[in-house]
Amino acid sequence: MIRIEEITKTFGNNTALNSVNIHVREKEIFGLVGPDGAGKTTLIRIVCGLIRPDAGQVYIGGRQLTGQTSEQVGYMPQRFSLYGDLTVQENIDFFGSMYHLTRKTIKERSGEVFAITKLAPFVHRFADNLSGGMKQKLALTCALITRPRILVLDEPTYGVDPESRKDFWLILYRLNQEGRTILISTPYMDEAELCSQVAFMNSGRVAVVDSPLALKRSFPYHVLEVSAASREIGLFDHLSGVLEASLYGEKYHLLATDIDTARQAINERLSARSVAVTSVREVPPSMEDVFVSLAERDAPLTQVPGPERRQEYGEQR
Ligand SMILES: Nc1ncnc2c1ncn2[C@@H]1O[C@H](COP(=O)(O)OP(=O)(O)OP(=O)(O)O)[C@@H](O)[C@H]1O
Ligand SMILES: [Mg+2]
Repeated sequence: MIRIEEITKTFGNNTALNSVNIHVREKEIFGLVGPDGAGKTTLIRIVCGLIRPDAGQVYIGGRQLTGQTSEQVGYMPQRFSLYGDLTVQENIDFFGSMYHLTRKTIKERSGEVFAITKLAPFVHRFADNLSGGMKQKLALTCALITRPRILVLDEPTYGVDPESRKDFWLILYRLNQEGRTILISTPYMDEAELCSQVAFMNSGRVAVVDSPLALKRSFPYHVLEVSAASREIGLFDHLSGVLEASLYGEKYHLLATDIDTARQAINERLSARSVAVTSVREVPPSMEDVFVSLAERDAPLTQVPGPERRQEYGEQR
């Protein structure tokens, strides 16, 4: 459905994309994941025909993109791009009229989309007065007004509260079930988990593409979850057999290269510090684990915001 071949894009001497190849199949929900500056937005803009690559080609539905937006694509940009001083209905009308749709068509189609997004009761509200989640639903409604077969969404839920993010994903699933192909970028690992395929991008390159399940299955480390009477962040620093340790709420999450060595070192560290331990158990890797280890392999870990920091970012933006 979308074939991205050998795409390279530079801005001055900054290589934003470096020989990127991605194939999004029909009816997939394809996730682009990667740290800030990885190249996700640049790639999405190229797919939407908004900027031209320096090299490589994009094919949409078998047809090569030649610097124009494909009518098969509905695009939702990273930042809210609608008019705050227009109402929900006026924004939709304005958007539809840009595509030369008649009032009747716009009304008909927005009705269809409202059935899914549940925005109908808010049509007369100014966009500025909508909640973050509702603003994103409005942007999605506008992206759907041309009845596109493909939806391209750039971090559509960034900074949106968890409940509204869930809501938004239910809508995406519904749209996908109706046959739409979705290409979506996200900073949230729980959302990466919801995609059928995920591409991890870092520094303009695609590190890996696979399903969340396959990515987790091929994860080369063991994950140990430790519950102990401590919240000290550096408690497990510099431990043999342990690659990385983080504190997630109440529990420590450790990536172990050698599980037996790690278990022994953990117990020794805890007893040396007189910390009471509740449990040390192996758990399946999460997408967060996969992502952190991939990002670490390709770039210094300091460039990758951890989950706490991402949350903080999300709330600020
Ligand atoms: N118009 C531009 N001019 C110059 N540099 C740019 C431009 N757009 C992007 N870049 C650079 O290209 C790189 C990739 O940026 P891009 O916005 O694609 O990343 P991203 O993965 O979308 O990041 P984020 O998660 O912050 O949205 C960055 O180094 C960025 O500074
Ligand atoms: Mg971006």
